[in-house]
Amino acid sequence: MLSIQNLSFSYGMVQALRDVSMVMPQGQVTCVMGRNGVGKTTLMKNIMGLLHQTAGEVALGATNVSGLPAYRRARAGIALVPQGRQIFAKLSVTENLRIGLQARTDGRKTIPEEIFELFPVLKTMGKRMGGDLSGGQQQQLAIGRALAGDPKVLLLDEPTEGIQPNIIQQIGAVLRTLVGRGMTVVLVEQYLDFVREFGHGFYIMNRGRVVAEGQSSQLDAEVVNRHLSV
Ligand SMILES: Nc1ncnc2c1ncn2[C@@H]1O[C@H](COP(=O)(O)OP(=O)(O)OP(=O)(O)O)[C@@H](O)[C@H]1O
Ligand SMILES: [Mg+2]
Repeated sequence: MLSIQNLSFSYGMVQALRDVSMVMPQGQVTCVMGRNGVGKTTLMKNIMGLLHQTAGEVALGATNVSGLPAYRRARAGIALVPQGRQIFAKLSVTENLRIGLQARTDGRKTIPEEIFELFPVLKTMGKRMGGDLSGGQQQQLAIGRALAGDPKVLLLDEPTEGIQPNIIQQIGAVLRTLVGRGMTVVLVEQYLDFVREFGHGFYIMNRGRVVAEGQSSQLDAEVVNRHLSV
């Protein structure tokens, strides 16, 4: 389980997170929603330790990880699939996956077969350059790279952005498998149908604050119109 308590963060004079508290239970997909620019990516970077809070804390289970740098949080079991995927374009698929191994604590140097079972396309395209894959394949690679570190908590920042529907469904099915194995999944998402189909709990943010929360089944028209419609 991941929890965030009273987290605040500022980019210089711009306060991007204000007193954010969330609980992301193990074995569930917890969705973080909100319009553009409300602080979703900033929150993911604070959880990963790429940015450091000005107040509040991030805890993995009972362990306060707020003071740890990103590489230590990665080793503690937190992995981020960043917005825009951030695949290394000039490295092969296999090399991209190997980079994910660095977060492991067991010293393993080979890519677990299970990643290819979840994303068979990564096996067939092993020698291709990351930059030559389609957007959907790159997204699958970004998730595979995160999983290569054997995380307990998987953070995904808008994984469906600009991706074709059949791959979106495959990604959803993988998330379902992962939470079924006890992983904690945090999904930043603006695509409502995906949240309804694959999410459990949700939080909606506006201007750096949590303005609504509940179960994904409760995401009705009233909540959507008030907080999410443009
Ligand atoms: N490096 C930065 N320096 C200064 N301000 C920033 C920086 N990155 C983001 N911001 C500001 O912080 C706020 C939150 O940005 P953030 O990227 O977290 O939003 P978001 O909810 O992820 O948006 P989107 O849906 O477009 O990805 C915005 O007002 C943005 O302009
Ligand atoms: Mg973002």
